[in-house]
Amino acid sequence: MQNGSIEIKAEATGFGAEVGGVDLAGEISEEVFAELQAAVIRHKVLVFRDQHLDDESHFAFAQRFGPLEGHINRSTRHGELPKLQVFGNVGDDGKPTGVHPEKGTLVWHTDKSYVATPSLFTILRSPSVAREGGHTLFADMTRAYEALTPGKVEQLEGLRAVHDWKRSREKSDERAATADEIAAAPPVDHPVIRTHPETEARAIYIGNHASHILDWELGAGEALLAELEAHATQEQFIYRHRWRDNDVLMWDNRCTMHCVTDYDAAIERRVVHRAVVQGEVPF
Ligand code: OGA
Ligand code: MN
Repeated sequence: MQNGSIEIKAEATGFGAEVGGVDLAGEISEEVFAELQAAVIRHKVLVFRDQHLDDESHFAFAQRFGPLEGHINRSTRHGELPKLQVFGNVGDDGKPTGVHPEKGTLVWHTDKSYVATPSLFTILRSPSVAREGGHTLFADMTRAYEALTPGKVEQLEGLRAVHDWKRSREKSDERAATADEIAAAPPVDHPVIRTHPETEARAIYIGNHASHILDWELGAGEALLAELEAHATQEQFIYRHRWRDNDVLMWDNRCTMHCVTDYDAAIERRVVHRAVVQGEVPF
């Protein structure tokens, strides 16, 4: 396909857009690439249909946005391209294992907020999509911020949340973090209200990796985070991606949260391949 002019069809809500007229496995000019960069900043979530990426072309496309990062969970690293992650519920016999590969994806989160420099963009493709469930939901954290009352904004001003991989695993009922993982990802803290470095828009920055509020009593911090999550995940802030074969999904982690809706891991085959672009220190 000629990558001459792309078409962007924004969601009516203004959150999320479908991008047509581009073959992500083909040559992408600087000009078209700049349009894609502007689109992901503007719409926060991009959907590309009918793509035919393999791991190499997926990696190459993602890398144009910046250096890719590996994942702390070594078990999901791709054999030849360790900076790609692959997780799914398909066994060596090709059958669904019945086990959710990453229960942490079933709860609201923003990628890698448990490190000092959390993920910028995540680019996901799913060679095997669930037919029932397994949708990816996104919450627009800029809109959610803008809908806070002035009193709430004042309360949140200057607060920092502690993000903790170990605690996050416990909360999502995943296998416990290993000693190596805990050493590699000690708790960090980030502002609860984050400013987007490109748009300067403010957004609520929380999710399952956020465990409590720095310098607050634990329970009070957990309650505030739960309240903010309930606020931010109201229907009016959500974009729901229903996967089709050959979709590629890309999002900006600085101003969104996401989760996967449940699916029957004993019946459905769901596999995702993901590339993640390194981010910067949130402010
Ligand atoms: C992720 C994630 C969502 C999905 O890859 O970061 O949360 O749809 N996955 O599998
Ligand atoms: Mn994720």
